[in-house]
Amino acid sequence: MPDERPSVLIFQDLRFCQESAPLWSTQFSPTNGMETTGYMPQAASKRPALFTVYEQDICRTNCLGCGHLQALTVLEALPEFCESHDRRIDRARRLPRPTNADMLRPDRDDWKESDRPMAIERKRWDALSILNLARGFQESRILLTAVELDVFSRLSEKAKSATDVARQVRTNERAMTKLLDALTAMDLLTKRQGVYSTPASVRALLTSDSRQSVLPMALHSAFVWRSWDHLTDVVRTGKRSSTQTRQRDKKDLESFIHAMRVIASPRVVAQVKAMRPGKPKRILDVGAGPATYTIALLNECPGARATVFDLPPVIAIARKELRQAGVLSRVSFVAGDFYTDSLPEGHDLALLSAIIHQNSRKENVELYRRIRDALVPGGRLIIRDHVMDPARIRPRAGALFAINMLVNTEGGDTYTFREIREDLESAGFSTVRQTRKGEMMDSLVKARKPKE
Ligand SMILES: C[S@@+](CC[C@H](N)C(=O)[O-])C[C@H]1O[C@@H](n2cnc3c(N)ncnc32)[C@H](O)[C@@H]1O
Repeated sequence: MPDERPSVLIFQDLRFCQESAPLWSTQFSPTNGMETTGYMPQAASKRPALFTVYEQDICRTNCLGCGHLQALTVLEALPEFCESHDRRIDRARRLPRPTNADMLRPDRDDWKESDRPMAIERKRWDALSILNLARGFQESRILLTAVELDVFSRLSEKAKSATDVARQVRTNERAMTKLLDALTAMDLLTKRQGVYSTPASVRALLTSDSRQSVLPMALHSAFVWRSWDHLTDVVRTGKRSSTQTRQRDKKDLESFIHAMRVIASPRVVAQVKAMRPGKPKRILDVGAGPATYTIALLNECPGARATVFDLPPVIAIARKELRQAGVLSRVSFVAGDFYTDSLPEGHDLALLSAIIHQNSRKENVELYRRIRDALVPGGRLIIRDHVMDPARIRPRAGALFAINMLVNTEGGDTYTFREIREDLESAGFSTVRQTRKGEMMDSLVKARKPKE
């Protein structure tokens, strides 16, 4: 049996062709057919960089800073890699072989959050898995239609026949029967003696009156489905069609804002702790939505007050959430449009959470300028969003989200750290750092307004 455990090389103070460019490497193991992608921590951190290699395997190594790509055996690659990048490795030493589990241990205390390597096992496709992917929309569409018709709420109190449900929601009876049967086949409903009901496990998740409900997020997915339907045309033409630029009605907007709460709530406390907000006195939450982050920041920073800035219809939702969280007295509200209005001044911490992806780079520079003006000298900005690797393929969720922005916005995208840093710097921010790398739109970038 060949030993499949990785060996580890530690490069001390390894410099890349571009100082802060992380390095991706993909190894293909002919012995176990597995492809593993290792993510090299940023060289700028001047910390030892860990790089997993498979001995005697073919190793494709590319520095995405300069796009350089080679297919080499790892140990031979070492000098060649260095030469090709015209950099000197001061020391390279072999370590005893760790197990895979050691390599992927997420809690190594000598790793900063931002240094943590990600190892991703590549999917191996076959005919069936490709076809399953192609048909994946079917189950998704069945669920989305059910939530649009609020089927789960209607069947949560009392079991009903398809005829009753069809009458209640004013739909075609035969079609409703098919829908309910398919939902039952998917274990989202139960069917006994011709009547359907929502099982308790699904009730909490998909009925409108439960606070744990993911219904708003599912409704938001139903909303964006309509734009995703045009993806092929958008890719052909580069433009969204006029039928796509439909404005959200009140119900869609409420679903969207509550969807933001549903997504954020389970992780918001940990996220805000990871932000290390310090002891700000006045926090500005730009595009605060349901104010989930404002609430968590106020809980984390007991001495702080906050200003919630959002579009007029959203402010009412935020106010309700803040009252429910018991922090309303510490919050001021400013309704406005961050593309055209200036932001309220005098803050020492600003938050831009899940905002920059909806904007083009130009719009972001404009927004960063407005935020700089709203901050006192030395004030800080924290951005929470996807931060893409230079090749824009990781995090995976960020690459997929870029498509969501392609079909739903004029110029939105998911950005690399370098792009974010350039835009912040051109808006007058300094000391721009990425302090967290995350898979789930939970990367963090911090910047400071100079003290003048
Ligand atoms: C994706 S949500 C993020 C909400 C919140 N920051 C969070 O992370 O949970 C985007 C928010 O930005 C707000 N927004 C979008 N465009 C805006 C604009 N032009 N001016 C003010 N707020 C805007 C939306 O109303 C929404 O609340």
